[in-house]
Amino acid sequence: MFAKKVKARIFRGGGAKEVIFPDDTFLVSYPKSGNTWLRFIIANLITETEDDIDFHTSISVIPEIGVHSKILENLSRPRIIKSHHLFNKNYPKVIYLVRDARDVYVSYYHYLRKKLMLDMTFSKFIRKQDIFPSRWHDHVNSWINASNIISIIRYEDLLKNPCLEVSKLASILWKDRFNEEEIKAAVKSSSFERMQRIEAERGRPFKDLNAEEKSTIFVRKGISGDWKNHFSSEDEDFILEEAATLLKYFNYI
Ligand code: A3P
Repeated sequence: MFAKKVKARIFRGGGAKEVIFPDDTFLVSYPKSGNTWLRFIIANLITETEDDIDFHTSISVIPEIGVHSKILENLSRPRIIKSHHLFNKNYPKVIYLVRDARDVYVSYYHYLRKKLMLDMTFSKFIRKQDIFPSRWHDHVNSWINASNIISIIRYEDLLKNPCLEVSKLASILWKDRFNEEEIKAAVKSSSFERMQRIEAERGRPFKDLNAEEKSTIFVRKGISGDWKNHFSSEDEDFILEEAATLLKYFNYI
């Protein structure tokens, strides 16, 4: 499936110790934007094996920079690498996944609560700047005009028509290597229901997970618009104040 393993050092990624090769593609997003889902789809597409892709195998196919250094080091090229970092000019090719900031913050809130890292109301949470590695609008702003971006995908479009979005991406990354049936199969193997089941059965258990929340931490609701169940009008104003321009740009408002 992959070209031969190469260990030569080319250049270093900004800040991280990992080596970046010129044929690397980065799957970049702000946290909670659907990265695991797209990673599953791609891993299902490019992995020639009868075995199911699960949370462990998807990490071995698409490791995260700064987190899975050992796996990255031994991965065959050309590699696909997950990243949540802000703009990095050293990433040779970037697929940027974007999701409505309001749903992102809702997803983040539940994720951190499930990890028992959070004990506050949603309103307090979205205003608490030091919880986040960066704000959504800073992340998106840092990437939006980057010249190394080869594709920008909206989570909401992936929800609406996953096969179309994946076939557009596949034609950019691999020309006509994958046919419609293969793309359909990869999308089907990465359905919300299936991923939720896999996470419940085989996902990495978080030792600090609250018993009631034990079901799933990554694959929670998988919809767009859940923010309407969480935002007060003041919360909405707060987010609009910092992110309206980008939300408009991506047709979220
Ligand atoms: P919700 O918490 O809103 O449900 P990330 O992987 O970047 O952390 O993103 C997590 C979000 O992607 C979660 O959103 C999760 O449910 C959603 N997601 C994961 N798998 C999905 C799938 N197969 N289909 C749709 N959404 C999915």
